[in-house]
Amino acid sequence: MSQNFDAKRVTAPEIAKRKGGAPIVALTAYHAHTARIIDPYVDMLLVGDSLGMVMHGYETTVPVPLDLMIMHAQAVVRGSTRALVVVDMPFGSYEESPSVAFRNAARVLKETGCGAIKLEGGVHMAETIRYLSSRGIPVMSHIGLTPQAVNTIGSFQPRGRFRSEWAAFEEDAKAVAEAGAFAVVLEALAELLAARITKQISIPTIGIGASAECDGQILVLEDMLGLSPRVPKFVKEYAQLGAAIEGAVKAYSTEVRSRVFPSDAYTYPMCEDAEEATKKTKMTGS
Ligand code: KIV
Repeated sequence: MSQNFDAKRVTAPEIAKRKGGAPIVALTAYHAHTARIIDPYVDMLLVGDSLGMVMHGYETTVPVPLDLMIMHAQAVVRGSTRALVVVDMPFGSYEESPSVAFRNAARVLKETGCGAIKLEGGVHMAETIRYLSSRGIPVMSHIGLTPQAVNTIGSFQPRGRFRSEWAAFEEDAKAVAEAGAFAVVLEALAELLAARITKQISIPTIGIGASAECDGQILVLEDMLGLSPRVPKFVKEYAQLGAAIEGAVKAYSTEVRSRVFPSDAYTYPMCEDAEEATKKTKMTGS
């Protein structure tokens, strides 16, 4: 894997400097082909561990292995040239200690060529964020609804809707910013709380279901393309690709069964000799 320190790529420090500026645009990406399509329009591509649910049919992100994250991240780095690629550390790969987190995060950087990692957690992960970011690993934190903690928090419900909960989330945001995170994802947080956090800390907040008060926005690509069977309230579907795929596959199936496809236009014709074949290829591409 070649080193990805490429002058054209957006860097983590550049994202950090955009606090309070033009909104930061981010989407998840899991593959080379989608990364290639969306790269020109976004500042960050997140190889989210949501890929476990979206691509691999797991019920939560908890079972996602590190090797799977690395494989998808390699594809996203190969498919993109300018956005910062951030890779999620999956559950179990960083919580144990700062040194375990460093070992696994360094593996992610070396083997994928990405520019940063993301991990879930606030106050309790601050020591690890400080350890990584002071040793050459840019960290984006993720607070609010933290899906890897679903077994302890009990649901994927929005957070911070009661004032009594705010102090804890504000402490989380301050702790990760002070520890050296270059940005923080706020997931499924009430608008007023997201606004307060965004004002209180010096690093960009990237909202997913946390209102327009954040410094940037991220969505899961498949959700906003209309490919997911169920989406949370905060997802706007900008396309209906699920329906488009179904329509295309139905048409293909009907045409194959009725021998309409492949017609002559999609078939290699016979040629008498090599000269004729060359001529036909030049004229028709077939
Ligand atoms: O895994 C993921 O896709 C994420 C985003 C929802 C921020 O963490």
